[in-house]
Amino acid sequence: MKGYLGFFLLIAVLTAYTWRDRFDPESVRGARVLITGASSGIGEQMAYHYAKFGGQIVITARREDALKKVVQKCLKLGAKKAAHVTGDMSDPADPERVFRYAVEKLGGLDFLVVNHVGNTNVELWNGDSDHVRSIMQVNFVSYVQLAAAALPVLEASGGSIIVVSSVAGKMASPFVAPYTATKFAINGFFGALQSELALKKSNMSVSILILGLIDTESAMNKIRGYATMTAYPASEAALNIIKAGATRQREAYYPWFHYFTCLLDNVPFMKDIMMSRLSSVYMD
Ligand SMILES: NC(=O)c1ccc[n+]([C@@H]2O[C@H](COP(=O)([O-])OP(=O)(O)OC[C@H]3O[C@@H](n4cnc5c(N)ncnc54)[C@H](OP(=O)(O)O)[C@@H]3O)[C@@H](O)[C@H]2O)c1
Repeated sequence: MKGYLGFFLLIAVLTAYTWRDRFDPESVRGARVLITGASSGIGEQMAYHYAKFGGQIVITARREDALKKVVQKCLKLGAKKAAHVTGDMSDPADPERVFRYAVEKLGGLDFLVVNHVGNTNVELWNGDSDHVRSIMQVNFVSYVQLAAAALPVLEASGGSIIVVSSVAGKMASPFVAPYTATKFAINGFFGALQSELALKKSNMSVSILILGLIDTESAMNKIRGYATMTAYPASEAALNIIKAGATRQREAYYPWFHYFTCLLDNVPFMKDIMMSRLSSVYMD
C-alpha cells in the first residue's frame, strides 16, 4: 500500500513540475500572429489576449462585420497592429490566400493559431457521408493547407503552429461522430508532424491543445438539452492555449484534468461504465 502511495505521489509531483506555469509575457510581445475562427468564441478571446500582450494580429473567419468589431477592440486593448481578412475554409483556395495576406500584412509570422470549426449537429449519426466529407475540409484539410503554407515561413522565423483540438479527438464521442473524426485526424496529423520536425531538428514547434467543454455561445447552444457538464470560461481557455504555444508544449489540456479523463478512456471497463451512464441519460 505504502509503495502505491509513494508511486502516485511521485507521479503527482512530476505532473505538477511538468505543468508549472513557465509563460513569460515578453515572449509574445510584438509577436506576429494569424488566428483563424476569430470572429467569435475562443478565437475572439485569443485575439484579445494577444492584443493585451502587444501582439501584431491578423484574424480571419467568414463574417466581416464581426471581424471588424474584434479588430477595433484589439486595437483598443493594445495590439501593435490588428487587421482582418475574410475567408471560407470550406473553399480549398482560401487557406493559402488567407495565409499569404497575413504574411504580407505582418511582414512574416511567429504564430499560426488554427482554431476555426464548421457547424455540425449534436445527434446520432444519420448516415450523411456528404456532411463528413465537407466538415473534413473545414475542420481538418484546411488546417493541413494552412500548415503547408506556413512551414517555410515558420521555419524561417523559428515560429509555432498552435492547433486547437478537443477531448473529442482523443475519445471517440457519441452524438458528434463527424466532429470527432475531424479532431482525431487533426491529432494524428499534427502529432506526426511534431515528430517529423523533431527528427529534422527544426527550430519551429507544433502545440496541440486538447479542450474540454468551453462556454462559447455555439457550444452552449449545441449541448442544451443534451448534457449538464460544467463548461469552462472561453477567456481562460484562450489564455491557456496562448501559454502552451509560447512555451512550446507539445500537448496541453484545458481544463488540466482532461489529461486523466483521456487516460481513463483507454481502460476498457471505464469505457463501458461511461457508455452505460450516457445511454441512461440520453436514450431514456
Ligand atoms: N467550445 C467548446 O466547448 C470546445 C470544446 C473543445 C474544443 N473546441 C475547439 O475550439 C475551437 C473554437 O471553438 P469555439 O467554441 O470557439 O467555436 P465558435 O464560437 O463556433 O467559433 C468558430 C469560429 O470558426 C469560424 N468558422 C466557422 N466556419 C468557418 C468556415 N467555413 N470558414 C472559416 N471560418 C469558419 C466562425 O466564424 P464565421 O462564422 O464568421 O466564419 C468562428 O469564428 C474549435 O476548434 C473547437 O473544435 C471547442
